[in-house]
Amino acid sequence: MCARTVNQHVVYGDSLAKSRQEHKVYDWECSMKNPFLIGEKVYLRPLEREDAPLFVIWLNDSDVTRTLLVKGPLNRHMEEAFLDDVYTDEHRLILGIVDKLTNSLVGSTSLEQVDFKHRHAKFGIVIGAKNEWGKGYGTEATRLMTQHAFMTLNLNRVWLHVIADNRRGIRAYERVGFKREGLLRQEHFREGRYYDTVAMAILREEWESKKIRP
Ligand SMILES: CC(C)(COP(=O)(O)OP(=O)(O)OC[C@H]1O[C@@H](n2cnc3c(N)ncnc32)[C@H](O)[C@@H]1OP(=O)(O)O)[C@@H](O)C(=O)NCCC(=O)NCCS
Repeated sequence: MCARTVNQHVVYGDSLAKSRQEHKVYDWECSMKNPFLIGEKVYLRPLEREDAPLFVIWLNDSDVTRTLLVKGPLNRHMEEAFLDDVYTDEHRLILGIVDKLTNSLVGSTSLEQVDFKHRHAKFGIVIGAKNEWGKGYGTEATRLMTQHAFMTLNLNRVWLHVIADNRRGIRAYERVGFKREGLLRQEHFREGRYYDTVAMAILREEWESKKIRP
């Protein structure tokens, strides 16, 4: 049953082979809930209405929203309504990020404004569980979504805007291969002052030329 569950879903790189060699990892994979994209440390799964309470906590936390371009307040009703409709728009893909070790939801990641003519999409991510920052989850989730954008959705370009002082975010995107394309001066207002935002993107040809894969 576990093996069937794993085989039915997309497993990138050699993570499945590694999992089979390491029984502990394989046990975690057995307990994964609806895995859609699977990495070494995290897997990405569809979000459910039941996930709403965690997002309400996270997206009202100023430590988390400080570096996000979208702001609250957000209540449970709003979040449940959002999650109920989240998979009705083919121009948007939002997935939960789950820590494989604990099987707990730590955040979400998205491809939005998917443009099927020009073949690009806007990337987004939030690790809402602050104690999970800096563990490599953001980088891996970015890599999994970027791979999905190019190799499954057949997109050509994935782009994002990030506030210039979000050094952790910029570092994670650069690790995956995103390049800085420009600076949007004083684009973002927060806590009494303006901040620049950095426009970043990765092209399919750049992704394909990179040696590192999830
Ligand atoms: C930004 C975010 C997605 C990054 O995810 P993460 O899991 O915390 O980051 P990772 O552990 O994968 O990688 C962080 C990288 O930045 C580095 N880093 C961490 N803190 C840093 C800092 N203050 N300055 C510079 N680099 C830093 C880490 O060392 C790591 O690089 P390395 O792999 O070369 O060592 C996450 O912190 C988050 O959700 N923050 C709040 C919301 C947000 O900012 N979302 C993005 C909006 S564009």
